[in-house]
Amino acid sequence: MFVRIRKSWEISERDVTPEAVFFNRRRFMKSLIGLGIGATAASLTGCQSRGDATEATGDPTAGTVSLGDIPRNPDFAEVDRSITPRDLAARYNNFYEFGGNKSIWQAAQALPTDDWKVEVSGLVKNPRTYDLEDLQRRFPIEERIYRFRCVEAWAMVVPWAGFPMRLLLEDVEPQSNAKFVRFTSYYDAKVTPGPGWRPNSLPWPYTEGLTIEEMANDLAFFATGIYGHTLPKQHGAPIRMVVPWKYGFKGAKSIVKIEFLEEQPATFWNTLVPNEYGFEANVNPNKPHPRWSQAQERMIGPGASFSWEVRPTLLYNGYEEYVANLYS
Ligand code: MTE
Repeated sequence: MFVRIRKSWEISERDVTPEAVFFNRRRFMKSLIGLGIGATAASLTGCQSRGDATEATGDPTAGTVSLGDIPRNPDFAEVDRSITPRDLAARYNNFYEFGGNKSIWQAAQALPTDDWKVEVSGLVKNPRTYDLEDLQRRFPIEERIYRFRCVEAWAMVVPWAGFPMRLLLEDVEPQSNAKFVRFTSYYDAKVTPGPGWRPNSLPWPYTEGLTIEEMANDLAFFATGIYGHTLPKQHGAPIRMVVPWKYGFKGAKSIVKIEFLEEQPATFWNTLVPNEYGFEANVNPNKPHPRWSQAQERMIGPGASFSWEVRPTLLYNGYEEYVANLYS
């Protein structure tokens, strides 16, 4: 049963959501001015109520295709909490290319996913451009149930389908001087933004980064599916990153480019607000966000406008045994 208990640590949605857009307004305005932006700022500071995400009617998973019998990796067959209902996960998303609130699933349907290609370049022995068939042929898919923790302190549990990032790493063979990897999301100002949203002045495309060691970790995953089906567009079709020990913003959606680099790359949120959205961004209950505690989290639960189960945040989101050695 999901019980909504308001605790003193809890902050209103206004203070937290979405992710880094609604951070300190003055600082945000300053960062926009630094980027030569100003006029668009007002359109970024609106705020949705918790119920918004359920308002859009229709099936948010329409258009997805069953992946059939996918083997479930026994190491990631269950977690200490129940799987979030598919419909809720598909209605409560962050995908700023398509809007500034959680209800972007309809706007995200404009994402063109036909003839998708992922270009892998930079410091690798075998630069390649994969299409989806190449990916399927080379990297067998499996299912993994992972915890998911957004920096905004909401959380869910999701069965992803996809393949370990390590397989791609082995395929392209990084050179010895490759230390970092930058992941770039699809962006086309003609397709995004969604209605009423003018994000053209932000540092698009959305980019994220990992160290090579993080990418080689057992947990690091490319998802091409969710809940036994292909990814709905709002979840980042047709391929996205999943790094469950890090805050959700590290998981770039709809990836078109992967580059191997010697230096740490600039990334979207870290460029906008470096003191709030670090490059490492590991889930850590003891390291508060500058504007809110990370000690607890709210699990998305069923209900007309969601119910929330409050839980303690786990160090590395509960994946300490896999990743602690990366940060000794
Ligand atoms: N990737 C892109 N391209 N654009 C985004 O706005 N948002 C990030 C991440 N990946 C985002 C993105 C954030 S803040 C979160 S919490 C997760 O996607 C949300 O994933 P979900 O909507 O599938 O739950």
